[in-house]
Amino acid sequence: SIIHVILSGGVGSRLWPLSTKERPKQYLPLFDDKTLFSHTVERNRPFCEQVIVVGNKDNYQLSREALDVIGLTDYTEIVEAAPRNTAAAIAFAAFSVAPGAVLLVTPSDHIISNEKAYSNAFKRAFQWAKNDYLVTFGITPHKAETGYGYIEYNGNEVISFREKPDIETATQFLASGRFLWNSGMFCFKARVFLEELAQYEPELFAAAHHAWQNQQGGFLPQFETLAIPSKSIDYAVMERSQRIKVVPATFEWYDLGSYEALWDYFEAKGHDHHFRANNMVLQTGQKHVELVGVDGLVIVETENTILVLPKSKSQEVKRVYDRLKG
Ligand code: GDD
Ligand code: MG
Repeated sequence: SIIHVILSGGVGSRLWPLSTKERPKQYLPLFDDKTLFSHTVERNRPFCEQVIVVGNKDNYQLSREALDVIGLTDYTEIVEAAPRNTAAAIAFAAFSVAPGAVLLVTPSDHIISNEKAYSNAFKRAFQWAKNDYLVTFGITPHKAETGYGYIEYNGNEVISFREKPDIETATQFLASGRFLWNSGMFCFKARVFLEELAQYEPELFAAAHHAWQNQQGGFLPQFETLAIPSKSIDYAVMERSQRIKVVPATFEWYDLGSYEALWDYFEAKGHDHHFRANNMVLQTGQKHVELVGVDGLVIVETENTILVLPKSKSQEVKRVYDRLKG
């Protein structure tokens, strides 16, 4: 059986102040009045017999509400006491199922169109996963984006995996034509992922396992969770494993994780009302905003915050968030 694992515990710090700890980006009704979280559940429902939501104590109520609206009642909830990034989050899901179960792991902050191409990619991934590979989905890159992982590939073979390269490296990767973006979705057997995690990150594996053994009804304990190293699956496993395949994907894909990504998406889709001249203005607050003689800016206004940045600095919003929350 195939199990959809939805990673939903990120705070979306690069979209602060729209995205907050109380209501992360995946629960904002930004798109056709639906949230990215709901879109994610519905997109994968045709392929998956079971759903596991891995979220955290600050937002699991929001996924409950969203699933309730969709009418999905039969799912497993894993609630982290604190976010420890995706390697641990996926490990919890893997611990909770039979070793041979195939997991389709997806983030909850994507927009994907072209269902047919998506289901074809999934079917191919499933075949590789059944043969004990860790399968990634590769997207043809169109800019030197530093917020993504890069997969050096030849057909379905993965030659190397490089998470979030600097801009010089990303530029070279793009120019070489030998790289795909990692879509952030993965397909593999629970056992295969856990074996690779144990091999490359034995401490992380042991700490996550220990926390899992102390879970109660899917709720992870605070103390043991905090002891888990915070690392993404990309750094922990994908950059090192020799058992990776890639399915080059032809569906249309947007990770709406940063203001630059939102900009590109709104521009591509003709959402002109978000733009004033060459600036993007997003408001949930009430202030009257005027712009004179500025270009390429992102302006975000919420009830109690104003954020202004050039589009090119979108990846740096995370630093502001990290400074303020601490
Ligand atoms: N449960 C849980 N716990 N979920 C988490 C945690 C956590 O601690 N941290 C992140 N997530 C969720 C986020 O909510 C998101 O849905 C997903 O995991 C991925 O996390 P991001 O923080 O959005 O990752 P990223 O965008 O920087 O990078 C990943 O995705 C890119 C494409 O979207 C990587 O896989 C890159 O290689 C990839 O290119
Ligand atoms: Mg992301």
